[in-house]
Amino acid sequence: MPTITQGDLFTATLEVLEHPPLGVPALDAGPREAVVRLAGQKSLVRILDGAEGHDLDLALPGGYRHRHGKLRLTAHRLTRDVLAIKAGERRIALLRLRDRAVGMPDFDPEGNHHPALRPTRPLRMRRGRTLGRTSPWETLRLAAEVALPIVVQGVILRRPLGVRLAAMARADQRANRLLARLRERHDGGPLLVRIPLRGWAVIPLTGDDVRRTLHGAEFTPANREKQGALGHFELDAVLITRDPELRAQRRAFNEEVLRPDRIAEAVRTKVADEVATLPTRGVISWPEFHAAHWRIARRVVLGDSARDDEQLTLLLDRLRGDANWSYLVARRTDARGAFQRRLEAHLSRAEEDSLAGVLAQTRADPAVHPEGQAPQWLFAYDAAGIAAWRALALLAGQEGPNDAERLRAALLESLRRWPTTLAILRDTTAPTTWRGVTVPAGSMVAVVTSFIDQVPFSDGPARCPGEGLVMLTATRVLEEILREREVRVIGKPPLLDHFRLRFTVRPRER
Ligand code: HEM
Repeated sequence: MPTITQGDLFTATLEVLEHPPLGVPALDAGPREAVVRLAGQKSLVRILDGAEGHDLDLALPGGYRHRHGKLRLTAHRLTRDVLAIKAGERRIALLRLRDRAVGMPDFDPEGNHHPALRPTRPLRMRRGRTLGRTSPWETLRLAAEVALPIVVQGVILRRPLGVRLAAMARADQRANRLLARLRERHDGGPLLVRIPLRGWAVIPLTGDDVRRTLHGAEFTPANREKQGALGHFELDAVLITRDPELRAQRRAFNEEVLRPDRIAEAVRTKVADEVATLPTRGVISWPEFHAAHWRIARRVVLGDSARDDEQLTLLLDRLRGDANWSYLVARRTDARGAFQRRLEAHLSRAEEDSLAGVLAQTRADPAVHPEGQAPQWLFAYDAAGIAAWRALALLAGQEGPNDAERLRAALLESLRRWPTTLAILRDTTAPTTWRGVTVPAGSMVAVVTSFIDQVPFSDGPARCPGEGLVMLTATRVLEEILREREVRVIGKPPLLDHFRLRFTVRPRER
């Protein structure tokens, strides 16, 4: 328990001891989260009811009586951090103070004229006093060295120039160095960053904090910026579904359809066909590999008839380009409509041996909107291509059996070193406390994947359900390339910049 100072906000738990017909809705149910303003002899309590909060306006301790309906409540201090709330002589609740609250919405002095609402000193954190709270200079450096390179590279669709600049500036190494320094300075973090117009962002820097973020029920994957981004082309995707029940249904549906065993044989054939279109002698560069990989993705997701529908990929890329700007740019209805129509035409064929076929055979509540899940599958396949291409650079020129285990290891190493999901975002759905400091519901939590390199497929309830399919497809791509070819990287491998990565190939000697 930190030192109690006048005027400060504290988080607290309100334990209701009995449930008389109180007439105070905020006191009707079990333990409640609360915020307390301690101000000399008079303090105030706000019960947090969802995101809005519900002020009890209870003056503490004793002396001041609060009228709420017919009920008269008083409060009395029992110990340094426990207060009893009484209705007449009956003790009806205990209020246990916990930690100093940072970033919680303060009591609104405009809406309430209670004397205790006037703080005895401004509610400002003293710089450097609170662990994790970044100074303005640190915040600026995080913006320039961590956030900016991520935005410049393109979160949803990589931009060649942005990736090139990030690679030239060694952006990921710089970001990691800064985060390591801040982790040391803030004793393990997490970092609490105030973002103008957005509120608090939490950056977890340890395995424990990342695990908590990815597993905890109080963090939703349907974060605001992600909803803004993916809303450009996949409004019904599980990843941006906020309602927990609907999310669970959509999640189960995705898991069922994406089970790799359902189309494993077909994936092998489709990959083999398309890799055979790549040269066995000369040079292979990204544009031709990328085009071949998109043919694989369209065939696996939508069926062989979609193989040459490059227009579909172009439309999706246009929407993904907008998605890089999240909700800062308006949604296009023309490209979206055209993409949707083409996609639906492919899905309606429900071709056997494709995800479209499996989708059609998988039962789902209409609310799930099964077809609405497919854009994510197509879009996410792009990352599998990037990961495979970089893994090829790790394997090029190396001797060794190109068996599944080695190829898998190369892929995982590629994803570990150069994650394709640059940041995993969550929003808090309730006030969350990080080492004694509480941030309000709706705050952003950002896992920087270049720094936390153990979660390329995320973890917890939103862990990538396509992982098995990705590993199957990408190991087959590598195996097919290497079976026929000896491969060498041209020049020094610019590995972060997959656009410029090129290989010489020649037929493998047997
Ligand atoms: C290299 C390839 C891939 C990587 C590294 C990857 C990684 C990830 C990560 C990190 C997430 C969590 C994102 C977040 O929490 O914001 C995720 C979610 C997801 N991925 Fe993948 N993914 C890949 C490919 C795929 C593919 C090919 C599919 C489908 C065919 C797929 C389907 C999904 C779905 C449906 C979700 C949302 C899960 C949920 O919200 O519960 N992914 N993926």
